[in-house]
Amino acid sequence: MEVIIQPNPEAAADLVARVVAHELRANPHLVLGLATGRTMERVYHHLVQMHREQELDFSLCSTFNLDEYVGLAPSDHNSYRHYMDQNLFRHVNMDLRNTHLPDGMAEDLDRECQAYENSIKRFGGIDVQLLGIGKAGHIGFNEPLSALRSRTRVKALTPVTLAQNAALFGGTERVPRRAITMGVGTILESRRCLLLATGVDKADIVARAIEGPITGMVSATALQLHPHCTVVVDEGAAAKLKEVEYYRWIFANEPEWQPFQRTSRSRRATPPNRCKGSPAAKRRRTEK
Ligand code: F6R
Repeated sequence: MEVIIQPNPEAAADLVARVVAHELRANPHLVLGLATGRTMERVYHHLVQMHREQELDFSLCSTFNLDEYVGLAPSDHNSYRHYMDQNLFRHVNMDLRNTHLPDGMAEDLDRECQAYENSIKRFGGIDVQLLGIGKAGHIGFNEPLSALRSRTRVKALTPVTLAQNAALFGGTERVPRRAITMGVGTILESRRCLLLATGVDKADIVARAIEGPITGMVSATALQLHPHCTVVVDEGAAAKLKEVEYYRWIFANEPEWQPFQRTSRSRRATPPNRCKGSPAAKRRRTEK
């Protein structure tokens, strides 16, 4: 796992967007795993900007979202399909036929979950999975005690998650109690995981997720098992981390991060393609 600390939420989201853009340019057929939530809004904003200003091309990529509420139609303004349309899909040249979210209205939810897993496999698996983290430590909607090998399934939401999302629904009691979510095992099968967390109210859970012991009580700790996981945090979310000096050194010095350094002259520059290096450097780039 690699932890990258950025000065503020804007810079953190910008970095995540540039990593996604870098991957997309290297592989236009990228299979991109998507997350929703407030933290991701900034990332999608940057991606839309890059599409407009730097011709970032989404026409050949496919997407799979992590989750969707049970009982919400795609047209519902609180559905994650609606969120994705509003924040990304309708602003870029994405082929909507290649965008996938679980169907929270499916009559047979178990079958829908299995079909979603099959569909991810048919597309060759997820190349880059974007992740946020909930205050209870979930990734997707993998609430505490989610099996670390779990697959896409229906999950009941915890009171912490219901409270976290209450404002969007106009009250906790209006938040759907269940959601379809990719499992922790499904997420761990993606080739790269990219988690973004910002704000001091995520500092406790970020520290537990990154530096704490692996436990089903905090499903994000399972990312410690992933061979290529990058966690991007702002100073607020990094506030409770212990090894910050090490993390800062990595971003400042490791070759793979050099193309992503920001100088005032390079602010609008497109990151160059993957920098070449020794076999050891290449290995470092793929196993964290
Ligand atoms: C949503 C999802 C969740 C959120 C997490 C953080 O698709 O997968 O895990 O990423 O709850 O949400 P925000 O960013 O609103 O704090």
